[in-house]
Amino acid sequence: MLKRFSISLLLFLLLPFITGMGAKPQEAAPTIKAEEDTEGIGPATGMQNLPPPHEYGNITMKKHTGEGQAIRSVVFPHWWHRTQFVCKVCHSDLGFQMKKGANDIKQADILEGKWCGTCHNGTTAFAATNCDRCHSEGIEVKENKNFYEITKDFPTNSYGNKVDWVKALEDGKFKPKTGLKGDEQMINLDVVVEIFLRNPVMPDVIYPHAAHTKILVCDNCHPNIFKPQAASNQTTMNKINQGHYCGVCHGKVAFPLEDCFRCHRNN
Ligand code: HEC
Ligand code: HEC
Ligand code: HEC
Ligand code: HEC
Ligand code: HEC
Ligand code: HEC
Repeated sequence: MLKRFSISLLLFLLLPFITGMGAKPQEAAPTIKAEEDTEGIGPATGMQNLPPPHEYGNITMKKHTGEGQAIRSVVFPHWWHRTQFVCKVCHSDLGFQMKKGANDIKQADILEGKWCGTCHNGTTAFAATNCDRCHSEGIEVKENKNFYEITKDFPTNSYGNKVDWVKALEDGKFKPKTGLKGDEQMINLDVVVEIFLRNPVMPDVIYPHAAHTKILVCDNCHPNIFKPQAASNQTTMNKINQGHYCGVCHGKVAFPLEDCFRCHRNN
């Protein structure tokens, strides 16, 4: 393992004793923030480039738009849509793949009521004729919501959108619909899986199903991302940092990987 990586880990190992294990894990991060990691591996990955809270989780869609194309790129705000619908409505019911650029979306299809047009039809949401509200890369759109205004009463944490989305949902700060045509029953699975580290330099990982199954369905993760069996996945932090396993969502839309002790919290 890289020496520099080990040094940051040492810091992390000591921090629990200074701050009290698990008490306020988020505060641990600034300590390693100063550390540059040019290898692209380990704790510092991406830290220098974290977007401001209102942009975290926004997807700039450039497959058919942007430079050299007929129209400005589309900025899709996850923070807003997740207050309206749970993830599975788009990522299971409507078939949006959870990967930037993976969906082949044409304006004609949208106007026929597919993709964004399933909702952006003037009934569920504004009509797909209001070009600028979606094609908004690099411009200010007055009609679009102000993130800070909407989330000002939401419980906070230190990373990403700086919103504790799990608690905000529990507290009823927003009530996302669980289906396109009214609410559907979610299968809430209250099973916690402990993922033991082979090399215990960090606390083991606690994976709580419940926080996930309120907004996602089983096939969002099983079997493509995880085989549904404890200890059957070759998960490593390196692969997570590269966008696999937990890193499919964490670091992109769900809270970022800098929030080490929200996952590594067994004590
Ligand atoms: C209203 C629809 C909608 C909802 C609700 C939604 N997403 Fe998405 N998601 C999208 C779209 C659109 C994209 C971009 C796809 C593309 O670029 O082709 C996307 C992309 C993603 C990506 C890929 C990001 C990347 O950088 O590659 C992840 C991960 C993701 N969504 C997770 C979530 C999670 C987790 C939730 C719930 C908290 C959620 N989404 C809710 C529509 C939605
Ligand atoms: C609800 C959001 C939304 C609205 C409103 C919208 N678009 Fe789009 N549009 C998209 C998305 C998403 C894509 C695909 C972006 C990508 O992958 O690069 C797209 C792609 C396009 C493309 C390139 C692909 C193609 O079909 O040729 C054009 C051109 C386009 N839109 C024109 C328009 C015009 C003109 C308007 C207003 C009349 C408009 N759009 C309104 C979401 C929207
Ligand atoms: C499952 C339904 C649904 C889908 C699918 C959906 N949206 Fe939306 N979207 C909404 C709702 C509801 C609103 C809020 C109502 C309104 O503003 O009219 C909204 C609002 C927005 C806004 C304005 C956000 C703000 O700050 O006010 C943008 C931009 C947007 N959508 C873009 C998109 C794009 C781009 C896509 C496709 C890639 C998409 N949406 C797909 C439901 C959806
Ligand atoms: C966000 C991703 C995600 C979702 C959604 C999800 N799971 Fe899992 N599941 C996991 C992970 C991660 C593990 C642990 C895998 C490991 O330890 O290697 C797991 C493990 C399991 C296990 C094995 C438990 C054990 O102790 O061996 C079962 C069974 C399971 N999931 C069922 C489900 C069912 C049923 C649903 C839907 C109600 C579901 N999961 C939804 C990520 C998910
Ligand atoms: C989204 C949850 C999550 C976050 C956030 C996270 N980890 Fe991990 N981490 C994991 C999982 C899952 C494993 C793999 C456990 C296994 O299967 O051995 C892991 C493994 C590790 C390992 C064991 C060696 C290896 O590479 O697999 C180390 C060390 C580690 N993480 C350090 C960190 C540090 C430092 C941070 C913060 C900068 C962090 N992790 C943030 C989930 C997370
Ligand atoms: C399919 C997307 C997805 C995958 C894969 C995923 N998560 Fe999550 N996770 C989420 C979302 C969305 C939340 C809600 C919080 C947020 O958005 O910041 C969440 C929340 C959590 C929480 C917070 C629970 C709480 O009570 O505050 C933990 C811990 C967590 N995830 C751990 C993991 C670990 C560990 C893995 C991999 C083994 C993983 N997640 C894989 C999407 C995902």
